[in-house]
Amino acid sequence: MGFKEDFTLKSNELLEKRVMRDAIHDYIHVDHLIIWRLINAQEVQRLRRIKQLGGTHQVFQSAEHSRFVHSLGVYQTIRRMLETECLDNYLSDYDKLCVMIAGLLHDIGHGPFSHSFEGVFHDNHEDMSVRLILEDSEVHDILADFYEELPQDVASIIQHTHPNKALIQMISSQLDADRMDYLLRDSYMSGTTYGQFDMSRILRTMRIKDDHIVYKESGVQAIENYILARYHMYWQVYYHPTARSYEHLFQSIFLRVKDLYQQDYHFQTNMKYILPFLENKETNRDFTNFDESVVLYYFREFTDEKDPILKDLSLRFLNRRLFKYVDFDDINEVEEIKKIASQHGYDPRYYIITDNQKQIPYLHYGDNFNEIEILDRHNQLSPLPLKSEIVSAILNSKNYKSDQKVFFPKELKDDISIL
Ligand code: NI
Repeated sequence: MGFKEDFTLKSNELLEKRVMRDAIHDYIHVDHLIIWRLINAQEVQRLRRIKQLGGTHQVFQSAEHSRFVHSLGVYQTIRRMLETECLDNYLSDYDKLCVMIAGLLHDIGHGPFSHSFEGVFHDNHEDMSVRLILEDSEVHDILADFYEELPQDVASIIQHTHPNKALIQMISSQLDADRMDYLLRDSYMSGTTYGQFDMSRILRTMRIKDDHIVYKESGVQAIENYILARYHMYWQVYYHPTARSYEHLFQSIFLRVKDLYQQDYHFQTNMKYILPFLENKETNRDFTNFDESVVLYYFREFTDEKDPILKDLSLRFLNRRLFKYVDFDDINEVEEIKKIASQHGYDPRYYIITDNQKQIPYLHYGDNFNEIEILDRHNQLSPLPLKSEIVSAILNSKNYKSDQKVFFPKELKDDISIL
C-alpha cells in the first residue's frame, strides 16, 4: 500500500458512506473503509455485550447502554475535533486516521462489568486494549494488512508514548474525547442532567500552540462547566453506593470461585470460559470470549452448585438482593460488623466489604495528565487554575470529599443499626 507518509484519507473513502443514528451526536459518520471494517471486527462487536456502566443500571435503571455505542461516540467526537480548522491544518492524513482508530478501539480491553473484573483478575483495560491491537486478533489483522506499522502507531496513542502529543491529548488527557462522550452519554442514559456541558463551545475554542492542544480564554467557562459536570457525575452516578454494592457482589462471587478452585472443589458447572483466568494464562481469544452474557450464564449455573456461599451470592446477584451499607470512620467498627456477620453464619471474607471512593476534580501538574492550558490574547499560555477562579478554588480547598462505606447482607441490618 505504499508509504504511510503518502497516505491520503481520500484514497480510503467508502463509495457509499455510512451513518448511524445516535442519541448524543445525532449521526455517527463512517467515511472510510478501514473504520467500517474495524467496527465490524469481533473485538469491537463484543463491546455490545459489555455495559458502559457496570452495575449503575441497578440504580439508574435506564443506563443500560453498551461500550459499543460509547466507542462509536468517542470516534465521532474525534472526527468532530478533526473538522476544526486548527487540527485539520495541523495533522497529516495518516495521523488523523490513527487517532480516529485509537478512539474507536480504546476500550476493547474492557472485561465484563469492567472495573469489578479488573479488581478480581488484576487486568488493566488499557494494557489489554493495547495487547489486542498488537497481536492475535481480528482488529490487529485489519490494521497490519493496511500498514505494517499501523497497529503500533495506534497502540502508542493509547499508551501515551506517541511522539505527537496532540493525538494523545485527544484520547486521554484531562479534556479528551473519551471523557466528553461518556459524560454526555452517561448523563443522558441515566436520566440525570449533571453531565451536560457545551461540547461545541469547547471544540470551537481549541487551538494548537507549541505542538499541543490548548484552549482560548473565551472557552474557560465551558471548560469549568465540563470539569464540574464530571465531578458531579462521579458523586451522583458513578460512585452511587447501590451500584458499588452490586459490583461488590460480583467480586465476592469471583473471590469464592477462586478460593474453591484453590481448594480443589469439584464444580458441577463446566468452567471452560473461566479456567484460563483462574490459571492466569488467558489468551486473547479467552479474553474476548468472556463477556457479560457469559458471566450471567455462569451466575445462573452457580445457583445449582453445592457450595452454599457460591449459590447464595449468585442468587443475590441475579435477584438484586444487594448488600446494604453504612458509613464508617474507624476500622474497629468494621471489626464489630464482621463479628456479627460470623455469629450469624456469614463468612466476612465474602459478606463484609469495605471501600473508599475519592474524586479529585482537577490535577494541577498531575503525573499522568498534563494541565489544560489557556491561550490569552497576548498569545501566552497559562495553566487553567490561573485563569479560572472556580478551578483554583477547588484546588485550594484540600478538603476533597471522600466516601467510605461498609457493605453487608441486609439480613444483618437490625443487628448492625444498634452498634
Ligand atoms: Ni472510554
